[in-house]
Amino acid sequence: MHIRTPDIGIDLGTSNTLVYVRDKGIVVNEPSLVVVEGANRRQLHAVGDEAARTAGRTKDSQIVIHPIRNGIIADFDMSVLMLRYFIRKAVGVSNVTRPRVVISVPVGLDDINRRALAEAVRSCGIRHVHLMEKPLAAAVGSNLPAYDPVGTMVVDIGGGTTDVAVISLGGMVVCQSIPVGGQTMDTAIINHIKREFKMLIGGLTAENLKIDLGTAMPLTEPRSVRVRGRNLLAHTGPRGCHEIDYTTQQAYQAIQEPCKAIVNTIRWVLERTPPELSADILRTGIHLTGGGAQLCAIDQYIATELGIPVLLARDPADCTVQGLGHVVQNMQHYMEMGRMPPLG
Ligand SMILES: Nc1ncnc2c1ncn2[C@@H]1O[C@H](COP(=O)(O)OP(=O)(O)O)[C@@H](O)[C@H]1O
Ligand SMILES: [Mg+2]
Repeated sequence: MHIRTPDIGIDLGTSNTLVYVRDKGIVVNEPSLVVVEGANRRQLHAVGDEAARTAGRTKDSQIVIHPIRNGIIADFDMSVLMLRYFIRKAVGVSNVTRPRVVISVPVGLDDINRRALAEAVRSCGIRHVHLMEKPLAAAVGSNLPAYDPVGTMVVDIGGGTTDVAVISLGGMVVCQSIPVGGQTMDTAIINHIKREFKMLIGGLTAENLKIDLGTAMPLTEPRSVRVRGRNLLAHTGPRGCHEIDYTTQQAYQAIQEPCKAIVNTIRWVLERTPPELSADILRTGIHLTGGGAQLCAIDQYIATELGIPVLLARDPADCTVQGLGHVVQNMQHYMEMGRMPPLG
């Protein structure tokens, strides 16, 4: 009997990891988090969803680790533990079928970090690791003509990075990755509340505020949300607790900087794009993907600032892994066409 290897696509993001298994689709979609414990803090306690449930209420002996930072491996051992957990969850532990892996990488990743990533996957018992640029994967996952002789622009707003690329004939013609993403907006909200209200809030609260109230354009119907935090002016408030009403207008002000940085990067890439390809982009628009692309009015903001149509992907957070899935699903075809992403 012929057993088709359960080849897999892995989108190892700063915030979330998604795994696509051939013939099955997306089987893992969990936060890129690890909780460890023990004296040397190397003993695995929880990964992914389970780690997220633990986070915030950990014991003294436990710590929460984000193995990926700004799109690159920040903690190698923890990344391997996390990857192994997700791969096992996706395909089991069978030694008979050795899956091939296609994993997404930020654009412009240097050789050292490319090798570290491939090595981390190989440490999970995988022999063949192909590295595919995130925007290319996102373009394929959004059914864009990434391999045609036309210019396609993809902007992937992730947790820790925003990747901007002009793609043509399956290659990155011009690209840039900046360490600005959804988490940068969370931090901006934390700092804004600290400055304006002398109150400290946690990262999760900030993320929820961003999703609830955050907007890249001022809203015509402002709203507000009651927020609790720790009072930084020790002499007021009961036991350091404090409450404020945070408004859409305030959230808008807080995240302006990161939104501007994203637009400036797109502009930088456009300025370096060959004229024929720019003409294609003016006609077909900029394609927005990544979880951060769900920020209220970010598409409208970019379109207004640059005067170019902007199209938000249908499932922004899934585009990259869907693209990796397309490769995994059609590997033979990609090989025959010379389109298989390079081995790491
Ligand atoms: N509705 C939303 N509005 C604004 N940001 C969002 C929304 N949903 C998710 N995000 C943000 O998207 C980011 C994660 O996007 P994702 O593409 O999964 O990142 P990565 O690929 O870097 O792991 C997080 O910062 C998260 O807060
Ligand atoms: Mg992503």
